[in-house]
Amino acid sequence: MTDSRDEPLVLGIETSCDETGVGIVRGTTLLADAVASSVDEHARFGGVVPEVASRAHLEAMVPTIDRALKDAGVSARDLDGIAVTAGPGLAGALLVGVSAAKAYAYALGKPLYGVNHLASHICVDQLEHGALPEPTMALLVSGGHSSLLLSSDITSDVRPMGATIDDAAGEAFDKIARVLNLGFPGGPVIDRYAREGDPGAIAFPRGLTGPRDPAYDFSFSGLKTAVARWIEAKRAAGEEVPVRDVAASFQEAVVDVLTRKAVRACKDEGVDHLMIGGGVAANSRLRALAQERCEAAGIRLRVPRPKLCTDNGAMVAALGAEMVARNRPASSWDLPADSSLPVTEPHVPGHRHDHDHVHEISKENLYS
Ligand code: KG4
Ligand code: ZN
Repeated sequence: MTDSRDEPLVLGIETSCDETGVGIVRGTTLLADAVASSVDEHARFGGVVPEVASRAHLEAMVPTIDRALKDAGVSARDLDGIAVTAGPGLAGALLVGVSAAKAYAYALGKPLYGVNHLASHICVDQLEHGALPEPTMALLVSGGHSSLLLSSDITSDVRPMGATIDDAAGEAFDKIARVLNLGFPGGPVIDRYAREGDPGAIAFPRGLTGPRDPAYDFSFSGLKTAVARWIEAKRAAGEEVPVRDVAASFQEAVVDVLTRKAVRACKDEGVDHLMIGGGVAANSRLRALAQERCEAAGIRLRVPRPKLCTDNGAMVAALGAEMVARNRPASSWDLPADSSLPVTEPHVPGHRHDHDHVHEISKENLYS
């Protein structure tokens, strides 16, 4: 067995949306997971306001890094690398994280690893269930994304099998919660109400499940409209809206399609491991139905605990540590924040730089 001290000690910074996350891992061991969220500041707008998020990241960044180092009981000097979400996400929010990561990496003389937010959502499961099997099918469901991805190496090979053609699954949860006046974010509260409702009460449509529809793509916009119309009709008739039944029936329509398509993709590709990640993976019904359907199909299901499913810095550190372990080149100092970084690029490479090189560049940049 390898000595765990030989495994890379990496700090990860996540600022793609409204969570300022700083995590520290040693290999696949989680040491710290500090998160400062600005979600309350967005609640009254019913969605994330980019400028508000960027400002909150700026204020939270240094204290959150300090907290993570303290929680992990390590010194910044001992780090083997600093990883940061380079994209996709909100441009201004990403910039805060990327700038901070560069500043720390540069000042400490550590390699910088710009990584993909989506690949990080998959890689985080290593902290919970150990090394990812290769290949792994991943169902990634969050406020901004809903995709089925096949990965044979999370640092270099992520292949999109399908994705949403309109709304993301989490976005649908957020919108329906708004129509029901349940607040923001919608996922957790719908999940709660749905537990007391009947998932079979209302037959809402299952998007893109016809025989001619693309097998692995998703659509939630039609469902969203159908649910909103159903609620409006009730209200127009002066009837009370059965919130729990609507929540349960809507949620069932979403998770039915997600799990059905994910299991089908595994079967078609001969992959016997399914990983579910992203904020919506915190959904209790999605977890239960996925477990049931995977068991029936002989597929091993891996879902991290809810706190690791929503945005956090530990997932970025996990992918960064994997980059170090697999000798991937560090990113260059001109690493950009790329709001539409493709899912097929788990890591944003650049020139390899070592400590001496850092100083060379610094002289050039400072005096030229
Ligand atoms: O991954 P994440 O934290 O941020 C993005 O990258 O988008 O995901 C946030 C999304 C929100 O849309 C939120 O409503 C949804 O995840 N979510 C849930 C649950 N918890 C969070 N959706 C359904 N059920 C939940 N329990
Ligand atoms: Zn996310």
